[in-house]
Formats: sequence, structure tokens, C-alpha cells
Amino acid sequence: MTEQQPPVQIPTDVPASARIYGWTLGGKDNYEIDRQFALQHLPAFPEILDIARENRLFLYRAVRYLAEEAGVRQFIDMGCGLPTENNVHQVAQRFADDPRVVYVDIDPIVLVHGRALLADNGTTTVINVDMCDPEAVLTHPDTRRLIDFSEPLAVLYLSVGHHLFDQDDPRKVVHSVFDRAVPGSHLVFTQIVSDDPERRAAIDAAANGAGMPWRTRSRAEVGALLAGPTPVEPGLVDIRRWRPDPDQPPLAPVPAELAQFVGASEKHGDLCEYGGVLVK
Ligand SMILES: C[S@@+](CC[C@H](N)C(=O)[O-])C[C@H]1O[C@@H](n2cnc3c(N)ncnc32)[C@H](O)[C@@H]1O
Repeated sequence: MTEQQPPVQIPTDVPASARIYGWTLGGKDNYEIDRQFALQHLPAFPEILDIARENRLFLYRAVRYLAEEAGVRQFIDMGCGLPTENNVHQVAQRFADDPRVVYVDIDPIVLVHGRALLADNGTTTVINVDMCDPEAVLTHPDTRRLIDFSEPLAVLYLSVGHHLFDQDDPRKVVHSVFDRAVPGSHLVFTQIVSDDPERRAAIDAAANGAGMPWRTRSRAEVGALLAGPTPVEPGLVDIRRWRPDPDQPPLAPVPAELAQFVGASEKHGDLCEYGGVLVK
């Protein structure tokens, strides 16, 4: 952690992706406005609860693969979200010696809670940077301190692609960091997709109407965004099908208010968190 850390302001008058997502995972760091947003829109898109939780289970399997099988020792986690159980550094530490992790998030609440979690951790840091500014991530002193760009690394964009508008040039955002990485490096990407234009438009309207940047994409659009590096087996998929493991550690229980939405994704297959792990 860097030593000069100014106090941060947490906006509580608009819902925030980090806090809503954290609530779906059983987290406590959220506000009435976040819970109301979820309860207002989940009846129309109930499968998003399962999708969010499945994404977090995928994170565990992907980081385990990277640390245990692919030999990755350094990670940049873009849009890392609020700390919960089995954060990237904890999964990596379980399966590899001395991993180094830079967490990146635009939301100041993530910085506050990340600092608390990582106060005594010299090999993991959290920085408050917009991932749409890759140079700011790459040149941040904590990135320079922890990441050796002459060694393979993994860059993670988990459940964050839908926060990038087309005008943000998501392909450039993602690849401008990954292009700096040496062969043997991995890119992990997931985002919410639907191949139904009306559903995409409805989800985008709900999120953008509340002030949360959102662009649901089709599977083909995500494929085009990621073109270049080679997807590892089983490729780009609904992440429930990415090396499923019924024995992986479970998530915290769903909050009681959200229990009514559990299981909706089994009835609606189109909307899902889509992506995978790619290697250069
Ligand atoms: C749904 S959460 C995903 C958390 C985590 N990656 C995971 O998969 O468990 C999305 C996160 O992306 C962050 N985010 C959104 N836009 C961002 C941006 N432009 N730069 C950095 N972080 C961003 C949000 O603040 C939020 O914490």
C-alpha cells in the first residue's frame, strides 16, 4: 500500500454496482438505494441474481487454474469489487507461492474496504483508478512496485465488460494492457450477455437510468472484443460451463430478501455471464 492515502467520499444517492453485487453475494456493505434498485429490477431480470453468484464461483475456478495449472504469479484485477470471501489474492495464495495482486476499482468504497483488508499485506494492493485509463493503471506506483512486465501475468476483467460503453472502446481498453504482457500471460473476461436485442435494451435502460454505466452485449460482440489471444478449454462460454466444480467452496448464503429469485437462470438460458480465460 502507498503511504499517503487521503480520505474518500462514498456517494449514497445513487446505486453502485460494487455494492449491489456485494449484496447478492451476502455482503453487508450496501445502502438502501442499492437494495431498492435490486428489488425494483430483479422481477424483470430474476436470473441476474444467479448470474452474479455464478460469476463469483467462476472467479475461484479461473484464479485456481491460473495459479495452479498455468503458473501465473501476478494478477491485475480490473473492477475488483468489494472484498468478499475468496478474493483473488486469497485464492492465488492457496494454490501458488508468493502471488502479487493489484486490485483496481473506480468506486471509492472498494478502496476503503480494500485498504482495511490489506493493511498488513505487502504483496497485494488496491488502487482507485478508472480501468478506461490503462496508462493510469500501468504507471501507478503500486503497479510498478508489484508487477514485473517481463514475467507472465493475468489481467482479469470479471463482470465488468458491461460497464464499458462502446465509446469507451472496450477492445482497446482490454488489449492495451494485455498487449504489454509477455507470452504466457492470460486474459480473463466475463460480462453479462443476451442475444435478444429487446432484453439487452431493457437491462441497459434500467441500469443507465439509475446512473450506472451499462452495455449488455451479444455473445458475438464479446467474441469480437476478445479476438486475438487463444481461449483455453472450454473456450468462451456461459461461465457456468467453464470447468464446473461441484466441490469448490460455496458462497455465503443469499440475503433473505433475494431468496425468491434463486434458480431463475435455470429457466432462462439466454441471459448469462459469458466469457472465459485466454492466453497469448
Ligand atoms: C459486478 S462488480 C465485479 C466485481 C469482481 N470483478 C467480481 O467479478 O467479483 C463490477 C465492479 O466494476 C467496477 N467498475 C465499473 N466501472 C469501472 C471502471 N471504469 N474502472 C474500474 N472499475 C470499474 C465497479 O465499481 C464494481 O466494483
